[in-house]
Amino acid sequence: MKAIILSGGKGTRLRPLTYTGAKQLVPVANKPILWYGIESIVAAGITEIGIIISPETGGEVESKTGNGDRFGAKITYLKQDQPLGLAHAVKVAQSFLGDSPFVMYLGDNLVQSELDQFIDKFKSQHLDALTLLSEVENPSAFGVAKVDDRGNVLQLIEKPKNPPSNLALVGVYLFSTEIHQAIANIQPSPRGELEITDAIQYLIDQKQKVASFQLSGWWLDTGKKDDLLAANQIILDTCLETTHEGTIDKESKVSGRVHVGTDSLIKNSMIRGPVTIGKNCKIENCFIGPYSSIADDTTLIDVDIEHSVVLKGATIEGINSRIVDSLIGERAHLKAAPKRPKALRFMIGDDSQIELS
Ligand code: DAU
Repeated sequence: MKAIILSGGKGTRLRPLTYTGAKQLVPVANKPILWYGIESIVAAGITEIGIIISPETGGEVESKTGNGDRFGAKITYLKQDQPLGLAHAVKVAQSFLGDSPFVMYLGDNLVQSELDQFIDKFKSQHLDALTLLSEVENPSAFGVAKVDDRGNVLQLIEKPKNPPSNLALVGVYLFSTEIHQAIANIQPSPRGELEITDAIQYLIDQKQKVASFQLSGWWLDTGKKDDLLAANQIILDTCLETTHEGTIDKESKVSGRVHVGTDSLIKNSMIRGPVTIGKNCKIENCFIGPYSSIADDTTLIDVDIEHSVVLKGATIEGINSRIVDSLIGERAHLKAAPKRPKALRFMIGDDSQIELS
């Protein structure tokens, strides 16, 4: 079996962070989202992985992720010239996939469950497609499935206005080679994309074997800020181990599970885990509260922060109020105002969100 991970697309929903970078590289607990998918695929014994990339962000995805050695896999990069849909991405990968059945993983999804159980079901029941489903509160934001009482998929609709159920399609799918024929028979949707849901619907209509698996563990589509903060919280809760590689001075107090990367300095600060701090950071006179991920090369001085993600190279200084539920972009610079500022000076990128509450 092979796998493809879709890491192209436009990434409009995490703007402004994704104006310059790929949304699949935005870190969760200081590790790119995409890498969790690769690790999960390798853990299921699949080592031949194709990653779909776009011309705009593909170079960055490739240079950060590499040829797969670090994951024990062989990664092939497959360029999709335009984001013409998930089924179009499968078309791009067709010669890489050859006559192999495959796992298709959306590069901005995080799924807790191990893939083995899905692969076992797919193989033992000789399926042509296996979809994973999860109950959600806002089905209109996803592909939605109508299933019968035995879990057979009857109908799939992409982002319906009137959803037939609350079962969303999770971004992990298993396919036999039949999917290529199905994709060859579908037309672009009204939004101009070749939809994988339409291709699966084609398989259903042709009476091919399509089944679903309802997830019980957590699943996150990290497309928006709050989803990303939720993913960060879950990963810190479940995966973080205590390791102090940097220097923590005597005046500092560290409690709970906290990772401090090499060459980082924690001075006169209180850190209450779960918290992860990357390499080469300077943290001075700070309170860093639970569910914070602070990336490499950041400087935080006189800062009180919790439940937030700070990306690489950012500097935050002297903010008197607590920073909560925030996402601070790479190399961003936040500096304090005096207690009652006479003026505020900003340079804020397009689509930024600032709340002075
Ligand atoms: O997250 C689950 C949802 O993912 C499903 O419920 C939907 O049925 C499915 O269509 C998909 O919806 P999204 O709107 O979230 O898809 P998005 O455009 O975000 O693309 C998902 C991933 O695939 C993302 O990593 C970008 C990549 N992609 C997307 C397109 C359209 C490509 O590589 N090429 C593309 O042409």
